Amino acid sequence: MKISEIGIGTYALSGVYGAKDLEEFKRTIYRAHELGVNFFDTAEAYGNAEQILGEILKPFREEVYIATKVGVRGNIKPDLSRDYIRKACEESHRRLQTDYIDLYQVHFHDPATPIEETVEALEELVEEGKIRYYGVGHLPIDVTEEYCRLGKPFSVLAEFSAAARESYEKLLPLYKKYNLGIIAFSTTGRGLLTGKFKENQKFEPGDIRYLDPLFQRERFQHGLRIARKFAELGEKYGKTPVQVAIAWVLAHEGVICALTGPSTVEHLEENVEASEWEIPKEDLRELEEFFKREDEWLRQKQKESIKQILIRPLPEPQKAFVDLIYVIETALSLGIIAEKEILPVFYELYGLRKELDKEGVGEKLKDIQARLRRVISLDAL
Ligand SMILES: NC(=O)c1ccc[n+]([C@@H]2O[C@H](COP(=O)([O-])OP(=O)(O)OC[C@H]3O[C@@H](n4cnc5c(N)ncnc54)[C@H](OP(=O)(O)O)[C@@H]3O)[C@@H](O)[C@H]2O)c1
Repeated sequence: MKISEIGIGTYALSGVYGAKDLEEFKRTIYRAHELGVNFFDTAEAYGNAEQILGEILKPFREEVYIATKVGVRGNIKPDLSRDYIRKACEESHRRLQTDYIDLYQVHFHDPATPIEETVEALEELVEEGKIRYYGVGHLPIDVTEEYCRLGKPFSVLAEFSAAARESYEKLLPLYKKYNLGIIAFSTTGRGLLTGKFKENQKFEPGDIRYLDPLFQRERFQHGLRIARKFAELGEKYGKTPVQVAIAWVLAHEGVICALTGPSTVEHLEENVEASEWEIPKEDLRELEEFFKREDEWLRQKQKESIKQILIRPLPEPQKAFVDLIYVIETALSLGIIAEKEILPVFYELYGLRKELDKEGVGEKLKDIQARLRRVISLDAL
């Protein structure tokens, strides 16, 4: 597949970034096609995004690549069993109004299904012409490698922006060993690197950024500083901060596509323009120095936050929930805990998100806080 450097995603259609104007979204996809974007990403789990995208792309289906994802429709716990995958693929065909998917991606890890079974199911779909390629995403690194050993994934999805660099660093050796294309997502940092957010930014509870660690505490301050740095650099070259952000991602070895999720034509045009420009080498080097200094500061602050959240009495449930998610995600990204060890606690915590206003939830959150204190060694912080 010859994928365009910029790909367009449809995650926003599930409401994670607030309500969107559907007609404007449709115009955005048409404009993307006109501008030469040929890679469109969706998922069975993004509300009715597959259906909407299928309808829009139908007149020029043969000219584009459709990527979708499998494993978590309507459920928190993934299912990657052979039966589920075969059924889900048929349903995605129906919603997308197509009889083949260009890239079928494993959405999340399913510890209950052997990887061999999932790989066999995906290979079968390739042989039958129902999918052209398969890829993986959101997996622990050892699981990603297992997919590479047992099968032939075309690509790996990774959150990758200047404000979220950990996944890329972990995946680079696999790209080199298995020639696994890296498809970067949230390349504008979910809007953070556009420079449109301010220190005191508030998000509604339904917006993913209300919960996303990228928008909490020191991590948010760090992101805002990167956005300012990109604004300064962009000024030198007549580029906007978001164009610098996307060009920065594309400057990295192994990245075959930068996915972004604009929902207006104006944002789309701004983002697509980023692929026509390269950040000069000396500026990239200077940015690396800037990130080194930032990372040192960030690690220290993050450790302090984890400690505080785990030893102090928890605040009211909404805030406590966000804090505990922050602890888990931050401890994982700092390498303080292993994903396998923490996944059961994460599922339990995440399962509470819809009962935060119910009686007794405070006790459940306290129990999770105590369990996290047992798995995260506070002395090591
Ligand atoms: N996020 C995930 O967890 C995830 C995981 C796997 C795959 N993906 C795929 O990757 C795609 C891209 O990820 P993403 O949607 O998180 O990308 P993103 O572009 O980093 O974030 C989208 C958000 O950024 C804003 N934005 C984008 N360009 C902008 C601009 N030029 N000016 C101002 N605001 C701008 C959008 O606002 P507007 O709506 O106002 O334009 C939207 O709120 C997804 O749609 C999905 O298909 C995502």
